Amino acid sequence: MNLMVSDLDYGQAPSLEPNLDPYALAKSLSGRHLIGGALVPAASGETFEVVYPATGEIIGFGAAGDSEDVDRAVQAAVEAQKPWAKMRARDRGKLLYKCAEALEEHVEELGRLIALETGKALRTESRVEASILADAFYFHAGLGSELKGETVPHHPDMLTITVREPIGVVGAIIPWNVPLLLMALKIAPAILAGNAVIVKSAEEAPLTVLRVCQIMNSVLPAGVFQMLSGFGPECGAPLVAHRKVGKVTFTGSVETGKVVYKTAADKLIPVTLELGGKSPMIVFDDANVDKAVDGAVIGMRFTRQGQSCTAASRIFVHEKVYDEFVAKLRAKVDAMVMGDPLDEKTDIGTIISPEQFSKVQGYIEHGRKEPGAKPIECSAMPSDPKFKDGLFIRPVVFTEVGHDSRLAREEIFGPVTCIFRWSDRDQVLAAANDTEYGLAATVWTNDLKAALSFTEQLEAGFVQVNQNLVVQPGLSYGGVKNSGLGKEATLESMLEHFTHKKTIIFNRT
Ligand code: NAI
Ligand code: MG
Repeated sequence: MNLMVSDLDYGQAPSLEPNLDPYALAKSLSGRHLIGGALVPAASGETFEVVYPATGEIIGFGAAGDSEDVDRAVQAAVEAQKPWAKMRARDRGKLLYKCAEALEEHVEELGRLIALETGKALRTESRVEASILADAFYFHAGLGSELKGETVPHHPDMLTITVREPIGVVGAIIPWNVPLLLMALKIAPAILAGNAVIVKSAEEAPLTVLRVCQIMNSVLPAGVFQMLSGFGPECGAPLVAHRKVGKVTFTGSVETGKVVYKTAADKLIPVTLELGGKSPMIVFDDANVDKAVDGAVIGMRFTRQGQSCTAASRIFVHEKVYDEFVAKLRAKVDAMVMGDPLDEKTDIGTIISPEQFSKVQGYIEHGRKEPGAKPIECSAMPSDPKFKDGLFIRPVVFTEVGHDSRLAREEIFGPVTCIFRWSDRDQVLAAANDTEYGLAATVWTNDLKAALSFTEQLEAGFVQVNQNLVVQPGLSYGGVKNSGLGKEATLESMLEHFTHKKTIIFNRT
């Protein structure tokens, strides 16, 4: 059933008790930003619809932010940041630890809400994301004492030191595919380092992010952490452009990343950009094929409908194991259940939005028309008529695609991968690197020399051998080439991206 704006009750802030009814929670969170410690409607009073992509139902509303909301939030951030930065770093860390504990109590609730909002299956994706969220806070909470500087042996008459200072107000713009984890990797280090942070959520998924912010707001001082929802040009752009925002950290498309970078360049402020990918997976003839097939299923994020920046969307398989690999991958993906995102039996949910749905369908249509290309469609559409309008797309494995095909070069961000046959090591390495992207890569072999040589030569920021882990707090994450600028998820990236170094010289004479 569609929710209406007239159903909303702005007088009542949602209770902080975990709420396992995602429809009720979506309604109670609707139509608000988090500004200055309070859940408030947009200055304009405007809202936009939030839709359950499995049924097309309107389940809530985001507050449609604009420059006036940005101004309000930045003002509150500027006021809150100074006392926050003066606090002992370890005490800030303690509060982050408390945020992690509070978020952990809400894992089930957050998992259900994110499943409703994005169509990602609860068991395989949404609950997992909600639980990793707390882990990112636990990791960063312990880093407070590491915000330290150096003594520099410059001159015997001078004591020369460096200190790490927070930047001030940080804008964090996040996408919809893994909003909670990607947000945590930005906000946890930025807040710990003594900054005030304003998050701009993606227009497709504002509500679960708001819930996380509401929970954190019950622990942190007002204004240290705020959240705005709204569209990119209306709400994201003024946040980047605001003269009191001193740093922007962004995850999303290359196209929007460039727009953000240009605006930031005009203000000469630093940016971190985590953009897309077209990540290669290279399977050698001596690889454990079963393990590699499991790695392809995880790497391609079929359980997330392929909506992943690290998706293993180009799989290069040695000709000796090619047929076996293709047959086993097909069988694995065929056995996955597409259906109700909120049902525990479901492996694969829906695409996020009608726009992304048409984009992905467009690539599949394009691939079908390509001479020689063979699409292998896997799994099966859900049979329940309740989901007849749902944004479900069956996973497609394309074989016999040319390296220059759009399927092989462009980021599809859907459940579509290409498998190529190879026999020559130099050629496959060159093909793997022949892309504008450079986020992730995996190599599957028991030949140690080959593995070392490939990991050295692959142009990517996150390279794995015989496994396909997702991003983990503590492991440097980020791309080269068009996949982005700067790294996330480590102590060093916190220091580099959320502080600046000041040199102080004392003359002894
Ligand atoms: P997008 O890059 O346009 O959106 C990401 C975020 O940027 C959202 O919060 C959006 O509101 C904001 N934004 C948009 N325009 C902006 C502007 N002018 N100034 C400031 N912020 C702005 O990505 P979108 O449209 O959701 O997806 C398009 C494609 O991008 C996908 O098909 C996929 O290929 C790629 N993508 C990559 C992601 C990744 O994890 N690297 C995540 C999401 C999308
Ligand atoms: Mg966009």
